[in-house]
Amino acid sequence: MSHRREFLKFLAASPLISSYSAFAQEVEETLGERLTDPSDVINIFEMEAVASTKIPPAHLGYLNTGVDSDMTLRANREGFTRFQIKPRRLVDVSQTDTSVNILGSEAQSPIFLCPVGSQGAYHAEAELGTARAAAAKGHHMVLSTQSSTAIEDVVQARGGPIWHQLYPTTRWEYTEAILRRAEAAGATSVCLTIDLPGGRNTETQSKLFREDDRVCSTCHTGQSKPIFDGLDMQGVGLNNPALVWNVIGRMKDVTNMNVIIKGIEAPEDAALAVANGADAVWVSNHGGRAVETGRGSIECLPDVVSAVNGRVPVIVDGGFRRGTDIYKALALGADAVGIGRPYCWGLGAFGQAGVERVLDLLNRELLIAMQGSGTPTLESIGPDYVHDAGHRVRRGILGREML
Ligand code: GLV
Repeated sequence: MSHRREFLKFLAASPLISSYSAFAQEVEETLGERLTDPSDVINIFEMEAVASTKIPPAHLGYLNTGVDSDMTLRANREGFTRFQIKPRRLVDVSQTDTSVNILGSEAQSPIFLCPVGSQGAYHAEAELGTARAAAAKGHHMVLSTQSSTAIEDVVQARGGPIWHQLYPTTRWEYTEAILRRAEAAGATSVCLTIDLPGGRNTETQSKLFREDDRVCSTCHTGQSKPIFDGLDMQGVGLNNPALVWNVIGRMKDVTNMNVIIKGIEAPEDAALAVANGADAVWVSNHGGRAVETGRGSIECLPDVVSAVNGRVPVIVDGGFRRGTDIYKALALGADAVGIGRPYCWGLGAFGQAGVERVLDLLNRELLIAMQGSGTPTLESIGPDYVHDAGHRVRRGILGREML
């Protein structure tokens, strides 16, 4: 049996990985090897299976890991079960429209591509494949601070503005240099990640590293072009444990880009972000890679939306794998919904064509949910279109019904 087959068996047997795929359809062990064309793949879970056959184990470990026991990672998926769609009937849904404009960025769909670092680890096309797919399908994308590809090349491949994700760094002059380069390259918003002030314990990654101890020099040396490329980063940390809310004002003194605060879970922090001048709030737990035993992003969303109270856009990411997941977030007040791992699985599986397939699948599923629920436009999707089971359980309503 091949090393690859052994590895796939390990993945299938791993309690961490299989529980991570909670609410996935069962994907049989060898399916990923049999799906050889993007059009063979019928959902995101299958794309993950194909990606698992193509992306080296250590890199897959980096992409798929959560922290500690991956409980927040699972909470992101499990959170969707708290909400059910409440469809309305006999509404004219013959004309649908999913286009959106957030902070001046036009897109054909509310689904945007989250920043994921080092995409060269998944496919040789790296961020260029992602940017070309985003351009082909009219999606908005956010580039990671730790991109494998220079931002200027990504903007060119996207053929339009992108947003840039920022790790704040421990030296303000480096933060300023990054902001200036991003703005000059054509980024229109900067998304400051605030959920990793300290270290983290990525155990699933460590476990998959054990399966793949090859020296990875071609992946990690010389070829990567993060936005701090060219700066001497000796002794400079990407995350700054001393960061406090005045960082928003300091950034606004340096840049004309919109400042989006990424990593909000508490409504109190959402209110502070707006009070300190944030142009948008991004509900995120870093794909379950920041604080362990947190709440699913979708469960954090309603409280944040209510704290923001329409003053700025609210966007969200964390565990979105189905059009219905995206629909629920829109109904709960999100203006746009980010996906990370799914498009990287597409990239790893088939390059640009795989990213395009992921976007097609999710857009189709979202459209089906919109038509099936009697909501032909994004504006028409509101809180009346979801039941909140958690809320009912808390108030004892379900209990009474069951008696
Ligand atoms: C980077 O943002 C990571 O989570 O590894």
